[in-house]
Amino acid sequence: MVSPTYYLDPLSTLSMKIITCIEELRDQLRGQLRTAFVPTMGNLHEGHLSLIRLAKRHGDPVVASIFVNRLQFGPNEDFDKYPRTFEADVAKLEKEGVYVLFAPTEKDLYPEPQEFRIQPPDSLGNMLEGEFRPGFFVGVSTVVLKLFSCVQPRVAVFGKKDYQQLMVIRNMSKQLALPTEIIAAETFRSDDGLALSSRNMYLSEQERAEAPALFKELNQIASAIRSGHLNIAELEKAAMAELTRRNWKPDYISIRKQANLQAPSADDLAQQSPLVVVAAAKLGTTRLIDNLEI
Ligand code: PAF
Repeated sequence: MVSPTYYLDPLSTLSMKIITCIEELRDQLRGQLRTAFVPTMGNLHEGHLSLIRLAKRHGDPVVASIFVNRLQFGPNEDFDKYPRTFEADVAKLEKEGVYVLFAPTEKDLYPEPQEFRIQPPDSLGNMLEGEFRPGFFVGVSTVVLKLFSCVQPRVAVFGKKDYQQLMVIRNMSKQLALPTEIIAAETFRSDDGLALSSRNMYLSEQERAEAPALFKELNQIASAIRSGHLNIAELEKAAMAELTRRNWKPDYISIRKQANLQAPSADDLAQQSPLVVVAAAKLGTTRLIDNLEI
């Protein structure tokens, strides 16, 4: 991995500033009242760039961050092999007109063990992704709050692809009265429907061809519900069975309420409460997540 400090070369022709140190970042952004922030873990693709473009419509200057946050990875997850493509990321952000890239090292962001952490409520943080990735939302909430404290943005943009993450951050921001408005960006998809994700690069050619099947299952469920099929358990079970038949290992496919990600009651269904179908499944060794609002 190329060290971010490489870009602090004074001869650099970049107009975007690359900052690793929190104090320097604060100096650079002092007095900015309309900062729009896009936090990322790097390996940027069109999905991330669409977040940057949305951020531009909501504030100025635009600040992005790249930090692969160890706190949100489980012991058997892909922290070490998570794709790090710093040089290419810098070129993309520069081209989008980002003002500052905050790219702290672990020492900059966690100079001592991060003992104070944000604990989302069990009802939101321990189900779905939280059940399969224990500690994930503690890690995400903690780093996002810390990044907000460094950048002090007026708005921050998060993708709907990580639907539960977006809800956790929204609720955190609301309950802690953070001065940062959370903006949701639509999921960016390839032409065949696959949601863009840094983890797609782990897929073999054959797996990449199979991967859109996940979104297809979500669409099947959505059209069944729209046409009045309200046996939620049956729809979830059928989609899980179909993916299993196709050699996926689904963690969950679950129809939930958009408002709080809880399972809809019969009343909710009768009143046509807005729903979302959320899913996570492994294809080979790659775990993909996706969702579709209904
Ligand atoms: O969605 C991501 O890339 C990460 O979870 C985030 C929000 C940047 C926190 O590390």
